[in-house]
Amino acid sequence: MRKKFIAGNWKMYTTAATAKALAEGVAKGVADNAVTVAVCPPFPWLALVADVLRGSAVAVGGQNCHYANEGAYTGDVSPQMLLDAGCKYVLVGHSERRHGINEPDLFLNRKVKAATSAGLNVIFCVGELLAEREAKQTEDVLDYQLSAGLAGLSKDAVAKLTIAYEPVWAIGTGKVAKPEEAQEAHAFIRKCFAAQFGEAAANALLIQYGGSVKPDNARELLKLPDVDGALVGGAALKAESFLGIVHAAV
Ligand code: PGA
Repeated sequence: MRKKFIAGNWKMYTTAATAKALAEGVAKGVADNAVTVAVCPPFPWLALVADVLRGSAVAVGGQNCHYANEGAYTGDVSPQMLLDAGCKYVLVGHSERRHGINEPDLFLNRKVKAATSAGLNVIFCVGELLAEREAKQTEDVLDYQLSAGLAGLSKDAVAKLTIAYEPVWAIGTGKVAKPEEAQEAHAFIRKCFAAQFGEAAANALLIQYGGSVKPDNARELLKLPDVDGALVGGAALKAESFLGIVHAAV
């Protein structure tokens, strides 16, 4: 039985004050470990949010990291810095970085390796563009993103991975994938993962769905056999709606 995992991606939203209040609200609503829960605030609030969540059932993640541990990389943050700030997770390959600022697969692969070997758990995001879905290229895109992004990972690194399937056309659009579309993509991801890392690793792998997940559509998605959780953007910015999704996973 795979335990459900709900993560909130706060993107470039919140102020110090609203981030603190949001973290407090989320912590209050997550009483136990029935579901794994994490929030990914903007970098400047990581330590603040980690402070609020210390001792709670809610973990903290970064939204991105560099592959180097330190160096002349202006504006970047290393895996070790995220750990020091109290993070357990990091997002790698979110579409707003893949497509928004053209982060290439090789670069993402180096980040996954660096983050996992530093000790972070990685939520690795994959997903097709609308034009790719319409051209029936969804499986080719997912296969390529997984094989390139996860190439050469050690067994230890594989055990620290969660995959988030986020069809780009569903992110922030209010257009959620139909249950059959989500299930089909998730099952395909698990099949690719099995070919890459073996059946046992694929059966243990958590695959989150992301893209316009809300409390009112979460239950239907989360009951699909290969959907093991959700990566939530907009609805993670209010404790009430984020908790609605967490509770739908129980
Ligand atoms: P959304 O974002 O829930 O606002 O669609 C999801 C994401 O970008 O991770």
